[in-house]
Amino acid sequence: MALPAVVFLLAFASLSAASAPDCKDLVKPFMCVLTFYMQIFGKWVYVMGAGDPKPYHKAMESVKSSWIDLSPTSDSQIVTLRWGDHCFNRCILGEVNATVSGLATTFRKNLSDHKGHILQTCPDCLLWTDTFRNMDVTGRYILQFTRTGKIDGKDVELFKKQLECLNFPTNFHSYSGKTGQ
Ligand SMILES: *[C@@H]1O[C@H](CO)[C@@H](O)[C@H](O)[C@H]1NC(C)=O
Ligand SMILES: *[C@@H]1O[C@H](CO)[C@@H](O)[C@H](O)[C@H]1NC(C)=O
Repeated sequence: MALPAVVFLLAFASLSAASAPDCKDLVKPFMCVLTFYMQIFGKWVYVMGAGDPKPYHKAMESVKSSWIDLSPTSDSQIVTLRWGDHCFNRCILGEVNATVSGLATTFRKNLSDHKGHILQTCPDCLLWTDTFRNMDVTGRYILQFTRTGKIDGKDVELFKKQLECLNFPTNFHSYSGKTGQ
């Protein structure tokens, strides 16, 4: 996808978001300590998300249902990430080993280098945001998962605030195919 350079400049500018004072508290990454590890392992069901710039946001409309499964490996810095996405009427399954180092998690998926963070969010929720680069193409995603695939209204409100803080489009997509707000 050959997008005009100006789009990428905007994307880079928006990475340094979170300027409003209360945003600092809303977009705190998780430290990868042992107790945190115990909490993140297992299966998570996609609930809602957004992308940036626009083509990536738009692309998320096609995600019908999606899950990820995180499991430990013998190396404490490596977590196996498996996923299943239903989009365009087919199921895409995949697996990568992600490297966790401090606050950042990196992995390579289908020739794209992803660097992401798990952000603090509602209990029994997993909020993932990453930026990726595939040669000269860059973009970012934010994905909200829960254990059940369901989420409370107040947690949706929290998610919206987090989107604003990170300068993601607030008309997020939910797994039912509807857009937010
Ligand atoms: C991930 O690492 C484990 C343990 O080192 C290995 O068995 C597995 O094949 C790796 N998976 C991938 C997709 O690289
Ligand atoms: C990987 O990327 C290629 C080229 O962009 C695309 O055609 C293919 O569908 C992608 N595969 C997966 C599993 O996403």
